[in-house]
Amino acid sequence: MKSLEQYEEFITPLITEAEIMARCAALGAQLTEDYRDKDVVVVGILKGVIPFYADLLKHIRLPLCCDFLGLSSYGSRTETSGVVRLTSDLSKPVNNRHVLILEDIVDSGLTMNFLMDTMRTRNPKSVKICSLLHKPDNEIVHVNLDYVGFVIPNHFVVGYGLDYDERFRNLPYIGYFAGEVPELSTRADA
Ligand code: PRP
Repeated sequence: MKSLEQYEEFITPLITEAEIMARCAALGAQLTEDYRDKDVVVVGILKGVIPFYADLLKHIRLPLCCDFLGLSSYGSRTETSGVVRLTSDLSKPVNNRHVLILEDIVDSGLTMNFLMDTMRTRNPKSVKICSLLHKPDNEIVHVNLDYVGFVIPNHFVVGYGLDYDERFRNLPYIGYFAGEVPELSTRADA
């Protein structure tokens, strides 16, 4: 099996770790102001959101609550299947609460569109979306995003929570495959 460094030779850096950290600090300050005196539950959409969720929350200076939802739409390695599935639900009801949804990326918009329809049936006081990345060139369904970290071009991005066939989520930066996409070893040939 290739080492992480060998795979990284195929990845062109797009957003550095320092840029992500600075954006988390700015978004956190903005969210602290916007949700002051509000009872907010921050809902992270698993699994891609994990690093962003952890880094952003440290900059939101409020007595907020945390919860998570599992959604999945990617059928093949790089293309959305178009069918969004709820893979795990919230741990508590959100009726009469302010809900802030955290996502790693809004790409086709299908996942967020499905989620907004689902949330509306649960009677929250408000629902807003904060996505680290927005890729508008690939939009199939338009969804209003309240907070966006970075608008990116139409590349298949990996790192900082984003995966290629479940790998590379642990890279501290965001990059993309500029040319050839490497073959991934399977456990059998590892
Ligand atoms: C990714 C990402 C978003 C969604 C965005 O999730 O985390 O939830 O795709 O794509 P869309 O706008 O085209 O719907 P994925 O289904 O790959 O699950 P993951 O978070 O576990 O990687």
